[in-house]
Formats: sequence, C-alpha cells, structure tokens
Amino acid sequence: MDTPSPKALQSFLDELNATMCDRTEWGKVADYIPELADVPVKQFAISVALPDGRVLSAGQNKTPFSIQSVSKVFTLACVLGRIGDQLWNRVGREPSGTSFDSIVLLEREAGRPRNPFINAGALVTTDALLEGRIPRDTLTELLEFLRAAAEDDDIHIDKSVAQSEKLTGHRNVALAHYLASFGNLKNSADLTLGTYFHQCAIAMTTDQLARAGRIFARFPNAPMQLSPQQARRINALMMTCGHYDGSGDFAFRVGLPGKSGVGGGILIIAPGKASIAVWSPGLNNYGNSQVGTEAANHVARFTGWSVFEG
Ligand code: DON
Repeated sequence: MDTPSPKALQSFLDELNATMCDRTEWGKVADYIPELADVPVKQFAISVALPDGRVLSAGQNKTPFSIQSVSKVFTLACVLGRIGDQLWNRVGREPSGTSFDSIVLLEREAGRPRNPFINAGALVTTDALLEGRIPRDTLTELLEFLRAAAEDDDIHIDKSVAQSEKLTGHRNVALAHYLASFGNLKNSADLTLGTYFHQCAIAMTTDQLARAGRIFARFPNAPMQLSPQQARRINALMMTCGHYDGSGDFAFRVGLPGKSGVGGGILIIAPGKASIAVWSPGLNNYGNSQVGTEAANHVARFTGWSVFEG
C-alpha cells in the first residue's frame, strides 16, 4: 500500500493522540527502577519519520523519556559495525520465549544468551562494545552514534536513572556474574553493568528516536547508513526478539519490526517507508508499552505498512 499523504497521516496522528488520551486503562509503569516508578502514566507521544526528511508527530513528542531497552538496537548496530559477525560466537539469534530479564536458559545453553535483546544478550553486546575502550569513551561512542543518526546533539544520559537502576539491578548483576562464570564477559562484571545501566538511561523524545531509527528504515538520504545486510538482519532480530515473549503477538498484530523498552518507548520500522517512535510509560504484562503497542497496531492498520505486504 502507498504511504498516505503527509496531510492525511498528520490528521490520523492527531486523532490517534486524542483517542489514546481518552483511555482509562494505561498499563503500569515499571516500578523495579525507582526513577521510572515516578513517571506519570497518562502520557502519549508518536512521531513518524518519512523518507523525504519530514517528521510528523502528535502528543508529547518533545518530552524526553528513558529509552531503556530500545538502546539495545543501537548498541547492536555499533557492535556489528565494529566487530561484525564475531559477535554471534557469543550471542544467539533465536527468540527466547522468556521475559527480558530471565536467567533460566543461560545455564542450559552454557552462558550463550539466546539473542542480543534479552538482558543477558545485551550485557554481552555492551561488553563487546567496551572492548579496547574505556567506559566513558564507549558511552560517548554510543551517544555520538545516536546524535548523528538523529541529527540532534541534544541527546543525553539521565544519570539519576542510571544510578537508580544500579541500586536495584540485582537481576542484571546476577546475569552478568553468571555470564562471567561461563567466560562470556571480557570485562569485569561491574564495568559491563555500569556501562549497560548508563546506556539504558539515555533519554530521547519520540521525534529524536524516530529520526535515529531511519538508519534501520534505510532511507537513501538518512545521515548515516548501515550496510543493507546489517539493516535487514537487525530488523529481522527486532521482529523475532524485539518484544521478548510478546514478539510473536507484536508481529501478528503489527507486522513490523519493533524494539520496546520498559520506559514505555517502542521504535517501529517500516522498511523504506517510515521510522516510527511511540511512547507511553504504562506497560502490559510482557513489559512493553500498553498504549504504545495499541497505537502501533492502529498505525499499521491505517497505513497498510507491513513487512508481509506483497
Ligand atoms: O535491564 C533492565 O532491566 C532495563 N535497564 C532495561 C529493560 C527493558 O527495557 C526491557 N524492555 N522492555
């Protein structure tokens, strides 16, 4: 299906915002990171970056939120750019069918996490990004990557969120040490964890995130390009693993690759057509944005965008 005209798309986004804001059921904010537990739940934003450079938005598209696990897709892009396929010696490419912070498969599979988006796999990916660099340079590299992709220097780490997660991140500490026990961390567990907590604490608006996602949508005039193969593969991983044990349902309902975070953000890619960012901080039972997921469903139905479209 052809992309609707910018005018039709803008009216749709305004209506979608009004419909979403009328809701009574917003899901539940993540409360295991105290800083996120304080975020007011009734918030919504959506931004759609188009190949012609336009970004159409509605709602609170200028409010920065904690991107959390959405950061994992950009860390993966940086690592694949740096070390390429070597990463797959340490991390798999299969859906886990478990929650993002699960440890159960790690023992059975000898410390090789199922994919780079569950926390265990993201810790290994961050550990790979740290190789040969000090943590400050690693975080700067990731921030610069995001700023260049979004063409916006006003993207920062919220240190209070990073600190908050550090104080309560017992599961991640357990995962990191378990990975280390299998020899699948090259840096100290503390170093990898500290870098990971800061990466998750990057704050962005939906406008910024939609613009940064253009690298996965493969717009010819995006400021940065991944190789076609890398973009295709990262999109495949987003489709199969980007929503953890909710990935199948997201693929079924939306039909587009997406990566969620417990801050309530979702980056959704319609290859060649749009990079979409939605945000609403209340989560569903899978730990993915409840209203954001519904909004994504509406966008897919209105536009007809789907990777399964002939
Ligand atoms: O590791 C954590 O628990 C968080 N920093 C990120 C988790 C997350 O966003 C999972 N996605 N839905």
